[in-house]
Amino acid sequence: MSVDPEEARRELLEIVRSVRSHLTAENGAEAPHGFFPGGKREKDDNVRKAPPPPASRHNLDAVRKELGDCRRCALHEARRNIVFGEGNPRAALMFIGEGPGEEEDKQGRPFVGRAGQLLDRIIQAMGLRREDVFIANIVKCRPPKNRAPKPQETEACAPFLEKQIAAVRPRVICALGTVAAQHLLKTDVPVSLLRGRFQDRGGIRLMATYHPAYLLRNPQAKKQVWEDMKKIMEIL
Ligand code: URA
Ligand code: URA
Repeated sequence: MSVDPEEARRELLEIVRSVRSHLTAENGAEAPHGFFPGGKREKDDNVRKAPPPPASRHNLDAVRKELGDCRRCALHEARRNIVFGEGNPRAALMFIGEGPGEEEDKQGRPFVGRAGQLLDRIIQAMGLRREDVFIANIVKCRPPKNRAPKPQETEACAPFLEKQIAAVRPRVICALGTVAAQHLLKTDVPVSLLRGRFQDRGGIRLMATYHPAYLLRNPQAKKQVWEDMKKIMEIL
């Protein structure tokens, strides 16, 4: 049996929690920072300092605010609307696409065009509703004529996506298509080789799969996407 690092981490946290509550009960007091029993912390004891609090699940609004009327890259020139992303701020599953298309640019919402309708059907087939998941993109403004985003554009946008991921803290990220998968995993490996098994992305499991727009042109690949979604469903 292989040990999944995420599972191991959860298990460890569970143990820490139970040890802490045991110690707290024994001492009749709140276990101090770093959970030793009634022990005094030395002033400059950095080793046992509690880790920083996890990013708030409720700070998506702050990320949106920081993004503002973004002009950090040239994509702002032709965009109609910033497509920030939407969904459950505590979603266990986060889909990440490439960037807004025409319809998304018009509406200011991710995946609302033809590819989005297919994504909706995939989400439903997983037994979920669109509002259960969080949907975002690598870049938040439409690249002209739907060209692939340029490195400078993805770099300008990346910090905001990272903050969104940190805010939502999904259990699984599903990267839709080559651009998202390669950007998120910092690799040149094609999505056809990345898909089908979980990749670790800073402690979050990431499943890369084909982009719904690719599925519209290559419906025979739906079978593989479904296999990938089943693997995600096993974890959720
Ligand atoms: N394609 C994407 O990658 N993202 C969208 O939001 C819509 C289409
Ligand atoms: N497969 C995908 O999923 N997306 C692409 O863009 C190309 C191949």
